[in-house]
Amino acid sequence: MPVKILMVCLGNICRSPLAEGILASKLPQDKFTVDSAGTGSWHIGHAPDKRSIEVAQKNGLCIDGQKGRQFKNSDFDEFDYIYVMDNSNYRDIIHLAKTSEHKTKVHLILNELFPDENVDVPDPYYGSTNGFDNVYQMLDEVADIIAQKLIEKHS
Ligand code: 4NP
Repeated sequence: MPVKILMVCLGNICRSPLAEGILASKLPQDKFTVDSAGTGSWHIGHAPDKRSIEVAQKNGLCIDGQKGRQFKNSDFDEFDYIYVMDNSNYRDIIHLAKTSEHKTKVHLILNELFPDENVDVPDPYYGSTNGFDNVYQMLDEVADIIAQKLIEKHS
């Protein structure tokens, strides 16, 4: 059974598709699966934002096959680790969790890089392309740490 990791943001078109693609590229596919979802429903079935696709491409990753979906309650059972991009996503997902086991699966992603600082991955949706580069660099850095931890823990 592979270890399953879910990346969550608001729209599932900017940050979490990048987080999914970046982490998946750092983990062996036979042992880990990575997916992403949004807390909101606006972009169900949509491809990632063009700017996310472009920044991924620039860094050698293809994420254009991904399709937006909304987080659902069964994800708490389906996934072993749920990484959320910001504090608002954290509140929304924790609010949906019905058991302490579900709650313990939810982690604010940048706390893996800056423990207990509760730093957000900023939402680049309304900003410039520069925002997407910034988000990419942050996610790439934290994904290295997460991948290393997961590989150590599950090998
Ligand atoms: P994301 O960015 O949460 O990183 O995917 C957003 C994308 C779309 C919207 C909000 C945030 N929206 O309101 O449509």
